[in-house]
Amino acid sequence: MHSHLIPGIDDGSKSMEDSLMMLRKFEQLGYQKVVTTPHVMSDFYKNTPEIILGGLEKVREAMAKEGLKIKIEAAAEYYLDFHFDDLIKQKKVLTFGQNHVLFELSFNDEPPRVKDTIFNLITEGYKPILAHIERYPFYINQWDKIEDFKERGVLLQLNINSLSGHYGPPVKKMAEQLIDRGWIDVIGSDCHHIGHLQMLESLRTNPHLHKVVAQENLLNKFL
Ligand SMILES: [Fe+2]
Repeated sequence: MHSHLIPGIDDGSKSMEDSLMMLRKFEQLGYQKVVTTPHVMSDFYKNTPEIILGGLEKVREAMAKEGLKIKIEAAAEYYLDFHFDDLIKQKKVLTFGQNHVLFELSFNDEPPRVKDTIFNLITEGYKPILAHIERYPFYINQWDKIEDFKERGVLLQLNINSLSGHYGPPVKKMAEQLIDRGWIDVIGSDCHHIGHLQMLESLRTNPHLHKVVAQENLLNKFL
């Protein structure tokens, strides 16, 4: 889960050919299903459920023509802004799994409203998943803050490619420590382009990836 495979609607896949190439590679690597999550961000990516689900249908049609067997579903990766709070109140949030919602934060500063938004999500019956928890500079080694998220009912998602050092050594170390603590609930590719899949392939023997996949309660197994 967590990828950007619908062409032309965010900073992920640029064309249907791109999308098919990435989905073919997922299938070759042994993946059975992907939950793709285009960005929704009020300033940059004004994606509505209609745009995302319409794009999903086109991808499915192209996959059928190519004979691709991997399953694909779509939800979204919501950037925490005022627009997201409005969508929560209007119950217009795209979900996957058991009413799960993927959301991300700014990489610059911890948003002051993060706890309010989490409260609103949970009050409306959603199960929030915080995207790539290991990547936010302001949460590196901030174990109390991360534990507080868990206590509030937020599930934590890790990018598999963080284990490669792709996002820098501190993020790699953070990813390993989160896995060692058993704090990761769900793992994702955050795949934007074919390079991310080549990285996934190179991580197939990574011990921390094997450790997190072996966790009985890893959400991926139930999606
Ligand atoms: Fe993403």
